[in-house]
Amino acid sequence: MDARQMKIKAAEAALSHVEDGMRLGIGTGSTAEEFVRLLAEKVADGLQVQGVPTSERTARLCLDIGVPLKSLDELPELDLTIDGADEVDADLRLIKGGGGALLREKIVAAASSRMIVIADETKVVDTLGAFPLPIEVNPFGLLATRIAVEKLAARLGLSGEIKLRQAAEDAFTTDGGHHILDASFGRIPDAEALAIQLNSIPGVVEHGLFINIASFAIIAGEAGARTLKAK
Ligand code: A5P
Repeated sequence: MDARQMKIKAAEAALSHVEDGMRLGIGTGSTAEEFVRLLAEKVADGLQVQGVPTSERTARLCLDIGVPLKSLDELPELDLTIDGADEVDADLRLIKGGGGALLREKIVAAASSRMIVIADETKVVDTLGAFPLPIEVNPFGLLATRIAVEKLAARLGLSGEIKLRQAAEDAFTTDGGHHILDASFGRIPDAEALAIQLNSIPGVVEHGLFINIASFAIIAGEAGARTLKAK
């Protein structure tokens, strides 16, 4: 099974949790896009759902292939969000934001009764941090915010390069008009402490640590899809 087939397997399994009439948060990234494609087929067959996209990219795909959309302001309470992840640990802590949509992803997931993560086995880790942690920051005072993040990391014993994400010649800009610092810590032994303290830095808009948000994860591997629940 290649990487795409595994993503499709996870997306198929997640689709079985979607019921008629649901208000759905719809994630961002290549795995979430496989879910959108399968969902569009069900919608074409008569399934009624209303989707709230977590990015402009996802919104465009949904509109192109016929998944009905609402804004989060129109549907501020959702039944279920389905989204991918960059890393998942055994306690269902996640790193997200590789695709730059972490702020809207977190807002949408938090507005949902349940969040199901869809991923392949390569995303499952013992300790978060091999994937660089995306930290969404306000462009105002970018350098001051970066220094504050570096000092916080040092206090927590974390080291590694913190890089401003680029898109072609310029700094990458999120749907919300912010930038992203990617922090290559390698290992994040205390994700809770880092999450709380990052949120206390004024220039940090949000970070890619999703803790106590996912309900369960559907992990696809060679042998098919399995459910990962928090220990
Ligand atoms: C988007 O900002 C991310 O949080 C994605 O959900 C995450 O990067 C997973 O993407 P893939 O499914 O493409 O690996």
